[in-house]
Amino acid sequence: MEKKSKPPFYVTTPIYYVNGVPHIGHAYTTIIADTLSRFMKMNGRDVFFLTGTDEHGQKVEKAASENGLEPQAWADRVVVRFMDLARDLACEPDFFIRTTMELHEKGVQKLFLKLLDQGDIYKGEYKGWYCVPDESFLTEDVPLEKDGTKICPDCGRKAQVVSEETYFFRLSAYQQKLLDHYASHPQFVRPQSRMNEVTSFVRGGLKDLSITRTTVKWGIPVPGDPAHTIYVWFDALHNYVTGAGYDRDPAHFEKFWPASVQLIAKDILRFHAVFWPAFLLASGLPLPECVFCHGWWLKDEAKMSKSKGNVLDPYVLLKAMGPDPLRYFLLREVPIGLDGNFSHEAFIRRLNSDLANDLGNLVSRSLTMIRNYFNGTIPEPGPEEPADADIRKAFDETRDRAVAHYESYTLNKSLEEIWAFITAVNKYLADNAPWKLHKDPALRPRLARVLRTAAAALRGTAVLVAPVMPGSAQKIWEYLGEPGTVRDIRFEGLAFDSPGLGQAIRAPEPLFPRVDLQAFLAEETIPAKEPVMDEETQKSPEQPPATTGSSRTTETAEPPVKPLVTYEEFARMDLRVAHVIEAARVEKAKKLLRLKIDLGTEQRQIVAGVAETYSPEQLLGKKFIVIANLQPAVIRGVESQGMLLAAVSGEKAVIPFFEADVPAGAKVK
Ligand code: MSP
Repeated sequence: MEKKSKPPFYVTTPIYYVNGVPHIGHAYTTIIADTLSRFMKMNGRDVFFLTGTDEHGQKVEKAASENGLEPQAWADRVVVRFMDLARDLACEPDFFIRTTMELHEKGVQKLFLKLLDQGDIYKGEYKGWYCVPDESFLTEDVPLEKDGTKICPDCGRKAQVVSEETYFFRLSAYQQKLLDHYASHPQFVRPQSRMNEVTSFVRGGLKDLSITRTTVKWGIPVPGDPAHTIYVWFDALHNYVTGAGYDRDPAHFEKFWPASVQLIAKDILRFHAVFWPAFLLASGLPLPECVFCHGWWLKDEAKMSKSKGNVLDPYVLLKAMGPDPLRYFLLREVPIGLDGNFSHEAFIRRLNSDLANDLGNLVSRSLTMIRNYFNGTIPEPGPEEPADADIRKAFDETRDRAVAHYESYTLNKSLEEIWAFITAVNKYLADNAPWKLHKDPALRPRLARVLRTAAAALRGTAVLVAPVMPGSAQKIWEYLGEPGTVRDIRFEGLAFDSPGLGQAIRAPEPLFPRVDLQAFLAEETIPAKEPVMDEETQKSPEQPPATTGSSRTTETAEPPVKPLVTYEEFARMDLRVAHVIEAARVEKAKKLLRLKIDLGTEQRQIVAGVAETYSPEQLLGKKFIVIANLQPAVIRGVESQGMLLAAVSGEKAVIPFFEADVPAGAKVK
């Protein structure tokens, strides 16, 4: 058997909480991981890419109860959003772990028992300040506020005093071992600034860590002492080993553990760079090679978070454009360790300039000329001239530099290199003007040389961008008539090759249609293919309008009444009486209200496009009809779990309320 010389590569993302729906920040980490995974595969390594969801703990318990569901049912619902998002971003994890999976729970319990047996975990009493939203205890150095409370330094919210019997992890015993590890593995935490931060935190002293709760029911029980559940971070961090096959698939685990790179953002640095390696040292498992900490995507200069209501829905940016522009933008715009303020303008600018103009035009002009001038196959070219040799040389250098940057996770630099090459090829075409050469039959060998050089440059570019823009790279590959898939090409030995003689070049379609910024901003909430609703009509795009006889119907000359449906078709809709128990405006959306409704057996949140007709106060206590089994959707970053019925007349949406008393949840038919 052939022996692989390169070591396997294992990349992880954090596992995301299922207390909210995914946003652009989650998308970012997953895209980085996927890009590295694709690159490493094309660089000849066996890769394991793990992502997943963190489903236990108080936050999830709370989100579930606010939504009238059991935690598992809630997690089952939200996890689909994270899985779908990965797919829609063209991310291909090898395994999607959920912490409620038995394989994970068993692994965590086993590790807990091991540490208990060897004395690294012991039972005691904990009293201290605890931040519920962050699920973490405050360190003692956090000062008391004037009112005698403490504020969580990570999220700025008030902490609570908690006192309970707990199991402690002997973190204090690992202070020196951690410092030694940092010193002997300077790449363990990257970038360097984060390593400095972690080192000085650990130098400041480590206290033992409380790792169980008696107050939280939604968690993995401590084996043999089920009144305690395992603290969500001890549980969650171990996903990286249980997901890789710890105690379940020894061959896989040994092949891939320790992870090559664990991607996180700075909000969870301490957990990954201090607690996690300490747990591993205690278990005798090797430590990951690198914890790579990227920055935050900010919106309006603030970190996106559900509580601030400033989360950006990735589907808004995926609409019509697919995943590649978003992947490119997020990786190109900001160096991986720094924060970036998200702006739609910057996104559209890059899409139009780097993608539509630079790359898209290069593809379409080169291939169209080959089709027009040579009927789609390039003949034997004339001799290479210095300008052609320069492009070949530039490609070789670009490939080496881009590969080196991919290897060191500096993805924006890799893209910078590739785009400098694309610019050089565009200049080469402008300087050599094949459209002029074409006019003189005596210059056909030269014309063939120039277009073959352009085709070779495109071929090479397709391979180089494939980890970041897999779909577009494959399209270029196919336009060039290349066989197989671009992802099967290896960087090693990647030469500047033009398509073979006689190889048929296909007609290219525009790869990246230009987007008009104003038009884009105007319809910012219209989705691509997910059940994200349009603020205007509060509908999924595939759904018909709510009413008949509206001005819209007349304008578009649709028949006044839609085609007949059977009773069975109608009966698939679950119409219910909803009772409004909370109502508020959705920030920065003048048409939207967020309503909490009671459906008798459960409470839900819906988003309704009625704010121009009703104030929140006018709707409080009212009863109306909702479709209770409509697929949930995200509108302006807020989840809507149903839709109310209203008559639409011009700008107004008029809701038919129940006048007689009727219980919440009653069926409407
Ligand atoms: N469940 C924990 C992690 C446990 S890992 C063992 C958690 N979950 S989270 O849903 O809050 O996700 C945090 C991670 O999501 C960040 O570390 C980062 O990878 C990503 N991001 C969330 N918001 C982000 C931004 N605004 N910008 C960039 N990344 C962001 O913490």
